[in-house]
Amino acid sequence: MAVNQDGSGRVSLVTGASRGIGAEIARLVGAAGDAVVVNYREKRPRAIAVAAEIERAGGRALPIGADLSDDKSASAMIDDISRTFGRLDVLILNASGGLERGADPDYAMRLNRDAQVRLVELAIPLMKPGSRVVFVTSHQSHFYGQKPVPEDYEPIAQSKRAGEDALRERIPELLERGITLTVVSGDMIDGTIIVRLLERRDPDAVSGRREHGALPTIEEFASVVVDASLAQVESGHTFYVGGEDYLS
Ligand SMILES: NC(=O)c1ccc[n+]([C@@H]2O[C@H](COP(=O)([O-])OP(=O)(O)OC[C@H]3O[C@@H](n4cnc5c(N)ncnc54)[C@H](OP(=O)(O)O)[C@@H]3O)[C@@H](O)[C@H]2O)c1
Repeated sequence: MAVNQDGSGRVSLVTGASRGIGAEIARLVGAAGDAVVVNYREKRPRAIAVAAEIERAGGRALPIGADLSDDKSASAMIDDISRTFGRLDVLILNASGGLERGADPDYAMRLNRDAQVRLVELAIPLMKPGSRVVFVTSHQSHFYGQKPVPEDYEPIAQSKRAGEDALRERIPELLERGITLTVVSGDMIDGTIIVRLLERRDPDAVSGRREHGALPTIEEFASVVVDASLAQVESGHTFYVGGEDYLS
């Protein structure tokens, strides 16, 4: 399958694509003509349903389970992609976590920083010049240290910021291979599980954000992530979605 000038015909891996924002990104890149690897950690039936939806719409999708915080599991996924497609054109680093019940205190850093960098390292041999890495993050993480963060969210914000910094440090090495990194940072996204849970537990935290304007939807955020995988911008460019007050 060749990559066309408009970017279609690419092979894209979307991590954490079994639900929420990742699932929507997978649907959109699938509709744009990419062959999509729908990565999930444990929600296999959901990932299969996302892949089936992409295929019903005329696209090509392959669900692959891999816990990114487990090196063997991440390596096995990359081997699977190598065997199936022989290459990877777009790596969308969407999966994130750390608030899971029973997770050890290091887990957020292992997943949101170490596993992101490791996956890029594993994927590099499959990525030709012109390939893209897109890191998906939240304003609360991207602006960590500059703006207050709810206490519960602190480990996520800190580890995702550390992940972004660690990826940015690799920009020169990626550029030598012709691979660009873009970052997409969003305000709270309406309709996500995290925002619904937060709204129940701490309604003021969410209404406080709504006071600055309507929160972006999953569809709006996902479409900017897809744009970020196509746009001709300098490596390291950040796309912002919502939360104008963060930017002033
Ligand atoms: N929600 C928001 O308001 C918001 C705002 C701005 C930015 N973002 C960013 O958008 C991205 C997605 O957020 P979301 O709210 O859609 O997330 P979510 O609903 O919590 O979904 C997380 C996804 O990541 C997968 N995942 C979790 N741990 C994993 C691991 N160890 N290995 C592989 N996959 C793993 C999950 O797979 P399983 O379902 O199989 O466990 C799931 O598909 C994150 O990077 C987040 O920071 C979110």
